[in-house]
Amino acid sequence: MCGIVGYVGRGEVVEVLLRGLRGLEYRGYDSSGIAVHDGRELVVVKRAGRIANLERALEGTSLCGDAGIGHTRWATHGVATDENAHPFLSSGGTFAVVHNGIVANYRELASALSARGVTLSSDTDSEVIAHLMESRYEGDVLAAIRSAVAELRGSYALAVLSACEPGVVYGIRRDSPLVVGKGRDGYFLCSDVSGIFDLCDEYCPLRNGEIVRLTAAGAELFGADGVRRPLCFLAEREDACEKGEKAGDRMLAEIREIPRSLCLGYDDFPREEIRSLLSEPWEDLLLLGCGSAYHAGLVCKGALREICGVEARAEIASEFLTSEPLVGPRTLAIVLSQSGETADTLRAAERVKSRGGRLLSICNVRSSSLVRSSDHVIVTRCGRECAVAATKSYCAQVQALLLFCLEYSDIKGKMASDKIAFLRRELAALPEKAAEVVAEEGRFVRLAGELKEAKAVFYLGRGLDYAAAREGSLKLKEVSYLFSEAYPSGELKHGTLALMERGVYGVIVATNPALYEKNAATIAEISCRGATPIVIAPPSLVSRYSVERSLPLPECPPLFSPILSAITMQLLAYHTAKARGCDPDRPRNLAKSVTVE
Ligand code: F6R
Repeated sequence: MCGIVGYVGRGEVVEVLLRGLRGLEYRGYDSSGIAVHDGRELVVVKRAGRIANLERALEGTSLCGDAGIGHTRWATHGVATDENAHPFLSSGGTFAVVHNGIVANYRELASALSARGVTLSSDTDSEVIAHLMESRYEGDVLAAIRSAVAELRGSYALAVLSACEPGVVYGIRRDSPLVVGKGRDGYFLCSDVSGIFDLCDEYCPLRNGEIVRLTAAGAELFGADGVRRPLCFLAEREDACEKGEKAGDRMLAEIREIPRSLCLGYDDFPREEIRSLLSEPWEDLLLLGCGSAYHAGLVCKGALREICGVEARAEIASEFLTSEPLVGPRTLAIVLSQSGETADTLRAAERVKSRGGRLLSICNVRSSSLVRSSDHVIVTRCGRECAVAATKSYCAQVQALLLFCLEYSDIKGKMASDKIAFLRRELAALPEKAAEVVAEEGRFVRLAGELKEAKAVFYLGRGLDYAAAREGSLKLKEVSYLFSEAYPSGELKHGTLALMERGVYGVIVATNPALYEKNAATIAEISCRGATPIVIAPPSLVSRYSVERSLPLPECPPLFSPILSAITMQLLAYHTAKARGCDPDRPRNLAKSVTVE
């Protein structure tokens, strides 16, 4: 994780860097800092905590220059302190470096540097990079950078300033993302387009091993082989999220955008391309992702079984990487990611490709590493998602996956054509139903007032409702810090029922009329042990469950309810976080884009 930015040009360097960092803060907010070449030397200012702390530290200084780099940190090695904040300056003041990634061999490198008399001032893996560059410097900055990174194991995206070259910023990457931007007033480096979205007209994602040298006059690119190459800029803009929401309410604003993004997602689904892909004789469907994206994959796995008669695998990307994968040329891997930059997901996708499998990615960022490495792509249409918790992107992924399943079912002849037509119409009607859920905010506020005191919250469900419950539980725990776990309702009696008592809540996702009796039994089992049930179901079922607390959903086929129940649980999590005084946009210990394995 961590966000890095670099700038060289005619603009106000400090202000431009701060703007870039504000756009990247979702990647980590443990500390932030900048380094500027002020014409004489490299000056570093950095602070633990939010960017506001850095802004305060810069107030009243007259720091200026024409080149600078900046960093916003998500701590991996070393706690969040000023000392562990980036940029790091080499001991002789020759190099300043910001880093995103993990230097796997930093301990060995640090001992070698210490043996040569270098004093390290932080507990991070990143600091060694600046000292290494200085120790390799023999009059050629580019050569020193190259020689230093050749010693690094692990992943990195780096922005580098050298005191010996005023007005120049270098960037280099391996397995962590880095984009070069071209704006009217200069050139930029950024972890991803969102940091420089308002400042640039064109972007060029760097490839592994490439190194770029930026000056106000232009950008030079050198390939991994050292040969100079032209930069190929793309004039691309992601959809902007709606403006006007006050800071601190991004999560809520993004939930409110779901109906609109579902409309776009339905209209823009690449139906013909997907049908032609699905007409190939696939023997194996593999769904890969992390966190919420993995949960969307679980919904798809259930839907594939229900309407296509296909048994697919859904795997957490990091787990998939722990053993030799069972993948071959007849494997279609559907790789799910909002950002398209999640390190585990990217590695898993690479692993599939290296074993001859095909990649279909469902991703929200067109310029991402995942999209660039995929054979086929569905770009979800939610615009930028800035709050850390995935909300609209999860719903968009599930929608794309359900559209995918409907096409597959049709191709496989698993459902009558009038049934498919009915389901397509129902899917087209979901945006309106989503808007109904979003409009009912009062009831979430009331329930959240009660839930905020819960000892623990279990999310329970069966089949597709269980897949949805997993996402609901993740949302609650990540933004409200309440203990929460998702569990298959039928499995409760095999152990977890021991935890049901007064003060514990059970959010029961029970949208399928065919499972009414079983769900009613779950409600009874937890209530009679003192736990409080909250039922999520359409009104026709809620009235039969006769519970005091419910969150009714608009009626829809149970196959599609994971979208509506997810919105309900997102709103419940958001309001519970607010009721507990938490900041749902920037939950503790997390970052939006997890670019470390
Ligand atoms: C949860 C959440 C994370 C992400 C996960 C994958 O709200 O946001 O669990 O879903 O880190 O991220 P992407 O989808 O960008 O690969």
